[in-house]
Order: sequence, then structure tokens, then C-alpha cells
Amino acid sequence: MDRPTADWFDVTDLAFVADPYPAYRRLREAGPLVWHEELQMWLVAGYANANAMLRNPMVDRVFRDRLPESEWATFNWLNSSAALDAPRADHVRMRRAMAGWFARGSITSLSPLIERVCNELLDEMAARAGQGEEVDLVRHYVEPLPIRVISELLGLPQELRADVRAWSVAMVALFEVDRGSDQEVAGQIATDALAERFAELTAERRARPTGDLISAMVGKGHDTLSDREVAANAVLLFNGGTGAVINALGTGLLQLLSRSKSRELYCSDPESLSESAVEEFLRFDAPLQLFERTALEGLEFRGLRIQQGERIGLLLGAANRDPAEFMEPDSFDIRRDPNPHLTFSAGAHFCLGAPLARREMQIALPLLFTRFPELRLSSDPVPEHGFVVRGYARIPVTVS
Ligand code: HEM
Repeated sequence: MDRPTADWFDVTDLAFVADPYPAYRRLREAGPLVWHEELQMWLVAGYANANAMLRNPMVDRVFRDRLPESEWATFNWLNSSAALDAPRADHVRMRRAMAGWFARGSITSLSPLIERVCNELLDEMAARAGQGEEVDLVRHYVEPLPIRVISELLGLPQELRADVRAWSVAMVALFEVDRGSDQEVAGQIATDALAERFAELTAERRARPTGDLISAMVGKGHDTLSDREVAANAVLLFNGGTGAVINALGTGLLQLLSRSKSRELYCSDPESLSESAVEEFLRFDAPLQLFERTALEGLEFRGLRIQQGERIGLLLGAANRDPAEFMEPDSFDIRRDPNPHLTFSAGAHFCLGAPLARREMQIALPLLFTRFPELRLSSDPVPEHGFVVRGYARIPVTVS
């Protein structure tokens, strides 16, 4: 069968980036897989196909070193030494080494920490508002929350946190499809700095272990990690544990604040609606839109031949709006149930931090509305302009 193609699909088009969902609809209708010549990858936009592909053992993440090596050396080792992109056998070992920290029970014990951080941030927001200063939901609530939580978990010293966050933003920008050379240089410098700091921290914890996650990863045990692997996984946890939570919570809150009926409904019963509201935050506008797989061998998929080594792009945000899986997929419904979105992926790489991300959002949401029942948008929010990473840079609000 001829390959269906979608060369009209342009991820650099600003209108697409602002609202990719009409283009995703067209892609879903074009076939189970469509070949994109410029991106040199198959694209999967339907829910059932994306779900099946993510669980297919004949495809996996395959990290390719970026070239020239002189510019990308740190980026290459940092990624290939961490769970997400390590070879399969190492992936399983690394995942096991971290799993206990992210199991549901461990996350439940983090609730007091998350509540304390939320309450501190809400106090600071109230103080700002009291002094007539602008309150930005991103900068003053949504962004510092996961940064403080993951920093506590990793044992990241206070004085390093702001720098590490800035470097993390610059490094994650390297995963955008459409990136400029300035962005690449800034990202490479930031990646070097991240690797260096986390390598130092790893060495310190090996010499003098504390009770933090880095100490646990360097600890001798069944799933021993090398120092390089510990540093690389710590960077992965910081990157994974911050940006996506910030964007999912920020975007979700914006959707809720923009819809008076949804907001009224939520405020009528936050206790029973917080869980389903958070799942809808995650589904409606996924913070990470594209993940790749590579065919480990040639395979047939829905009647199409994928050659060994070909890349496959899973459009998670598109899958989450598939009408074959979700009733009225374009409406934002905080009571949606079931809501089997693919925002955390599926299969072997299913997000390790999903229980933590969910818990942070489930705690932050009701505390915000309990403290500020009059919370309102005060001016236009400012979107980030990425395709792979979706979210808002600023969401100005008034709190009373
Ligand atoms: C809303 C927030 C989050 C979203 C949307 C998200 C999304 C994802 C996705 C889609 C993947 C799999 C990528 C693939 O299949 O190729 C993933 C993997 C991962 N995430 Fe998250 N994530 C979030 C929060 C977190 C948090 C809070 C942490 C930890 C602190 C974390 C740590 C990880 C790790 C370690 C992996 C690699 C798992 C593996 O390869 O086995 N994530 N995440």
C-alpha cells in the first residue's frame, strides 16, 4: 500500500502552534499512520493507534547522538545515561532503582510537604496582592511548587535552585522540533552546567549520604547505578518533575478560570471534583505533545509497512482529542469519567513521576480556590510558543 503522507502538516506554522487541534483532526482522518517527509517520521494521531504503538515491543525509544560530538557531548551522555533513553536492559535497572520513591505510598507521605509549599506560596501571593503588586499564577504558584518539591526530594541546595531551573528550561528547549541556533548554544551551555552541578552533588552524596533521592541512588544495592547514571537520572527527574507539571497545572487552571460554568461547578464541590478535574487538565491540552519511537525491526502496522530504523512520532495531544475514544473531545469537562488520556504515555516508558505530578496538582487546585474564592483572570495570559512543550509563560490574576 502507498504511504499516506501529510506534507501540509507544518509544526513551524504559528497558527498551528497556537491551536494544533484542527490539524490533528485532519491527520487522524488521513490514516492510522501518515509519513511526514520533512520530519522524516511516521505520525500517529489516533488514540487506539498511539496506545498500541506505545505498547508495541518492536518499537522503542532509540537515542541518537547529536553531532558534532564536540558541541553535543554532554547532551549525548546525559540523555543516553538516564532511564528515558538508556538501552533497554539499563532502562529497567534504572527504573527499578528509582521506582520506590515514586510509588503511590511514598507519594502519599509527601502530601504534608506539598501542602506546606502550596500554603507558603498562597501566603506570598496574598502578601503581594495586599501590596497592590501583580500576581502571576505561573510565576507565583504553579512554577515554584514542583521546583520546591523535586528539589527537596533530590536534596538540591537552596542556593542552586534558581540556576538549575534556568538551565533546565534551556536544556528542555533542545527537544523542540523548530529551534534556532541561539537556542542550541544556550541549551548546550546550560546542559554542561547541569551535568557539572549534578555530578558534584552525586560525588558529595557518595562521600556523605543524606536521606535524599540522590543518596538513595548512589547507595549500594541490587540496582546499583554508576555516578554518571545517578547524575543523569537526577537531571531527568528535575527536568521531568518541573516543566510538565507547571504547564499542565497552569493550562488547566486557565481553562477553568476561563469557563464560568466549569469554575462554578468545581467550586461547588472541590473535594469530590479535584481528581477528575486534574485528569481533564492533563487530557485537554497535554503539556508534552510529541514523543518518538524507532522501529527496532521491520513491522506491519494497520496494513502499512514500517521499515527497521524508521522513526514514529506519537502525538499525545492529538490522541487525547480522538472522538473514537472520548465523547465530545473538544469540550473541557471536569467530570469526565473515564478519562484514559495518554498524557503520561503508555507501556515501558509510562511516566515514573505520574503519581507525584497528580498529587501535586490534586493538592494545589483545591487549596488555591479555598484561599482565593474570588480568583479571576486580570489580563491576557501569555502562551509559550512551543509545539512539543505546550503551556503558558504568564497568567495574570486578581485574588480578591
Ligand atoms: C504533568 C506532568 C508530567 C507529564 C505530562 C509527564 C509526561 C511523561 C511522558 C509522556 C513520559 C514518557 C515518554 C515516552 O513515552 O517516550 C514520561 C517519562 C518520565 N517521566 Fe514524566 N511527566 C510528568 C511529570 C513527571 C514527574 C513529576 C517526574 C518525576 C519527578 C517525571 C519523571 C519521569 C521519568 C523518570 C520518566 C522516564 C520513564 C521511563 O523511561 O521509564 N515526570 N513523563
